[in-house]
Amino acid sequence: MNIIDIITKKKNHEPLTTEEIKYVIENYLNDNIKDYQMSSLLMAIVLNGMNEEEINSLTKFMLESGDRIDLTSLGTAVADKHSTGGVGDKTTLIVAPLVASCGVKVAKMSGRGLSHTGGTIDKLEAIPGFVTNLTEEEFLNQVNNIGLSIITSTKNLVPADKKIYALRDVTGTVESPALIASSIMSKKIASGSHNLVLDIKVGSGALIKDLETAKELANIMIKIGNSNNMKVICLLTNMDIPLGNNIGNTLEVEEAINILMGKTDGPLKELCVAIASYMVSLGLNISYEEAEKQILDNLKTGKAYTKFLEFVQAQHGDLSKMTKKANIYQVKTNKPGYLTNIDAYKLGRLSMELGAGRENKEDTIDYSAGIIINKKINDYLNIDDVVYTVYTNKDINNLKFDIFTLSETPIENPKLIYEIIK
Ligand code: URA
Repeated sequence: MNIIDIITKKKNHEPLTTEEIKYVIENYLNDNIKDYQMSSLLMAIVLNGMNEEEINSLTKFMLESGDRIDLTSLGTAVADKHSTGGVGDKTTLIVAPLVASCGVKVAKMSGRGLSHTGGTIDKLEAIPGFVTNLTEEEFLNQVNNIGLSIITSTKNLVPADKKIYALRDVTGTVESPALIASSIMSKKIASGSHNLVLDIKVGSGALIKDLETAKELANIMIKIGNSNNMKVICLLTNMDIPLGNNIGNTLEVEEAINILMGKTDGPLKELCVAIASYMVSLGLNISYEEAEKQILDNLKTGKAYTKFLEFVQAQHGDLSKMTKKANIYQVKTNKPGYLTNIDAYKLGRLSMELGAGRENKEDTIDYSAGIIINKKINDYLNIDDVVYTVYTNKDINNLKFDIFTLSETPIENPKLIYEIIK
């Protein structure tokens, strides 16, 4: 077997055999297949796709490339969630304590942000003292004690994905349902939960730009999950506009706290309630309606917020020390009109350039940096109204701030959840 024949086969629209996929994963990991050969194969996969059997094999050999976490000691009331990534997506910070407050354990491994999308670990590390690298024993003990822990990966989970994803990121080969599904599902299966809620983001600020591709991805991931003893529910949700009002690490923690304290309503809360209710319904094997009732009760009574405080304390975070040391700039309108678009992608890029994210893996983050959106879609704005507020320690002279659209008439209110696929 050799890689050139395998690339040629995929280039000619022929399916790869299980043995060929095994050969590719093993030989790329041990450097026998070079980055330029792998890039070529990945591009052929992006262009010509993979059938179900190929995707299952790819997921299997990626999974087998590393360790797995065994969560059986936590019992059956365990659930996980995953978002395909977006701008201002702080749902995990809200959903995890909400779900844990209902008696469903959340033992979650999360990632850092890259490019215009954020990552949960960076947001948690905006809380001074918060420790994200617990040992596996500490992690499982904490979940057993308080029902919840969120950490970076303790083990060598799916090293094949780490290597392939890094290559995809710099070769324009991220946007393939087959590659995204095998990448996400191999990590989720390796992380040990048997109940998974996936939030597939669709729109300008997301990896997936259209609903049809999102549906295809959802169906592939559900099939992979089911054949690995995992129940999967997919929510297809809007990422044309950012989720919630705050973007940037400290700002997002503050917004999450406001939701948990019952101070804010709106689409962010609505989505968190939906994701959390599906997780509780899977974890406790009850109806969505029963689960939603518990979730709403725990938000109202403050039980979910208390769980969040317990979680932060258990991982040594000190919320009283969280500060925003940054210069503040207000971006105002220069004409009147209805606010009809806030471009999630451009906002995410701007937030990264303000210091809230990384362009390259080695960049450091300014936790104080970010953006607060002061208006909602369809608000009518007069000249000099503040549309959004910028927090940064950088020189802003070369940055572009043209990220919103004003129109003479309002638009139909954007949908939050397009579809739920089980
Ligand atoms: N997130 C992942 O982990 N993998 C992908 O391929 C895309 C998003």
